[in-house]
Amino acid sequence: MTSSVPFDGISMGCDYNPEQWPPSVWREDVTLMREAGVGFVTLGVFSWALLQPEPDRYDFGWFDEVLELLHEGGIAVDMATATAAPPPWLTTAHPEMLPVDAEGRTLWPGSRQSWCPSSPVFREHAVALVEQMARRYGSHPAVRLWHVSNELGCHIGKCWCDVSAAAFRRWLANRYGSIDVLNDAWGTAFWSQHYRSFEEVLPPRITPAVPNPTHELDFARFSSDELLDYYRVERDVLRRLSPDVPVTTNLMVSSHQSEQDYFSWAPELDLIAQDHYLDARLPHPHAEQSFTDDLTRGVAGGGSWLLMESATSAVNWQPFNVAKRPGELLLDSLRHVARGADGIGFFQWRASRAGGEKFHSALVPHAGRDSERFREVVGLGEALRRIGEVAGSPVEADVALLFDWNSWWACDLSSHPSAELRYVDAVHRWHRAVTELGVTADVVHPESDLSRYRLVIVPTLYLSSDATAASLDAYVRGGGQLLVTYFSGIVDESDHIRLGGYPGAFRELLGVRAEEFAPLLPGTTVTLDDGSTADRWTEVLTAPDAEVVARYTDGPLPGTPALTRRAVGDGVAWYLATRLDDAATAALADRLTRDAGVTRLAGAEPGVELVRRGRYLFVLNRGHEPVKVPAHGYDLLTGVNVEGTVDVQAGGAAVVREEGS
Ligand code: GAL
Repeated sequence: MTSSVPFDGISMGCDYNPEQWPPSVWREDVTLMREAGVGFVTLGVFSWALLQPEPDRYDFGWFDEVLELLHEGGIAVDMATATAAPPPWLTTAHPEMLPVDAEGRTLWPGSRQSWCPSSPVFREHAVALVEQMARRYGSHPAVRLWHVSNELGCHIGKCWCDVSAAAFRRWLANRYGSIDVLNDAWGTAFWSQHYRSFEEVLPPRITPAVPNPTHELDFARFSSDELLDYYRVERDVLRRLSPDVPVTTNLMVSSHQSEQDYFSWAPELDLIAQDHYLDARLPHPHAEQSFTDDLTRGVAGGGSWLLMESATSAVNWQPFNVAKRPGELLLDSLRHVARGADGIGFFQWRASRAGGEKFHSALVPHAGRDSERFREVVGLGEALRRIGEVAGSPVEADVALLFDWNSWWACDLSSHPSAELRYVDAVHRWHRAVTELGVTADVVHPESDLSRYRLVIVPTLYLSSDATAASLDAYVRGGGQLLVTYFSGIVDESDHIRLGGYPGAFRELLGVRAEEFAPLLPGTTVTLDDGSTADRWTEVLTAPDAEVVARYTDGPLPGTPALTRRAVGDGVAWYLATRLDDAATAALADRLTRDAGVTRLAGAEPGVELVRRGRYLFVLNRGHEPVKVPAHGYDLLTGVNVEGTVDVQAGGAAVVREEGS
């Protein structure tokens, strides 16, 4: 990652799909984009079939015209390579490039993204198109960014076809060197799974009983690497033919999309770009947004990133298309900016008349320009222009929350002690607890440098490396405050249990030892002797070398330690062996952040989010009451001086350039 967001200030942008409209609409589009303050558009994502209508014929004329109109209108372009959805002539000629699921079913054309990431024939045709695109547009002054494919892994994060099987075997041979090493790593002595050669290995297709978990885990790793490899293929063409334009692709850092290890992708991208859609199915959709934004910043190494796509209102792909209420569009967009986004993009410019996404919101709704939604969009464009000076300012955080895709994949595999234990649930819970205290957390890889953080939280890091254990040990000895929660440090990178008692990797550091897990049945709770309530998980825990802070008073293990604390070197290591409810999580987060001397922004509460980016204080009030927050300076949104407190109405926001900072 080398580039900053290549658009001016905090730019507003959108996907633009002009092929869905007649040329007469294109002119009106550019006029309206200017009215709305659109600074960039992502062009060409799904244009392949019309850019290359036949195998040996390209048709760039209409696309040139659109590009010139945008350029004349002063709108910058994030140019897609147009390879996301192959045209029917290609899938008809080469059905062997279609993806196959774990049950052996082909995913047929008729939608989008029907291609196998390992398919050589798909790669060959995609590269030919990318070369055409790069030669034709690679030095056009409007083109500021290249956008490889689209949401790599969306719909087809894994493919189980025979071509993928061969690629998987090559990946395994490269990882393990010999089949004996693989047999050892996969524990194939179990259930007669011993392999004689790599040729006998298949992708983990459906099986009669529980599949080998390390096989599944390695297939997840392979699938992430294989898509990254595909990205590299396109990127290398672009770098060769258009060396001055940065290259990225839009990531999907979210609670549902767990198939790519974006920490390993980051070094290959010139800029981190992320798509985010609020998910009304979640219990705390806005908290999830804040979490994914902080994780995206972690993927970006702490720097700025680009929100490539979000929705102005409803999405079509959830069971209920929940519309944004007045003001929510601004608030949700500012939340992204507060947490490091230096540009706010949307899907899409104009709501489609036809196709599978015709009920998805857009900047210009079906109702047209004369609509509240478009007026809100114009207001958002103006607000982002006003806060443009924020671009590039670093988000300030002195808490780290450790996160790992490998651990997520491994933790959520089947045949574990509790079907209700879910990795992101644990991570979200702790992120939300600190956020509601006015604390900003960086969400970072477990092997990151932790020395600058006052508090490190490690929720349910089921799979942990020796390096992570050593790093946490050094962090605490050096004066850090650490919280590790249940079902952490259980296995190594091969998903083998760390023997001798749980939580294996962190047992010594924490001074505790669990001999058995005692998960709770759904709907049951336990009480701790400090009055806290918890559910889902308990452990037969002893604390041979730690102070017991709280014990269970009921449930399967009355009198057993639930929360412990151990002073180590200059620091302190806490262990929490159960899932506290929201109030108790908040109380423990409060105690830990105070003990650690973590910066807390005064005025934060559930529904009122405060974040500091350099000299700018963001106040986001999603609550139903106005709030007063201490601040001195100048509110960029209202243009009003702030002396002592800033008043923020219910559903409103302030971005205060603080004086003297
Ligand atoms: C994204 C995708 C867009 C559009 C959008 C709808 O996953 O990149 O093309 O489908 O979702 O929310």
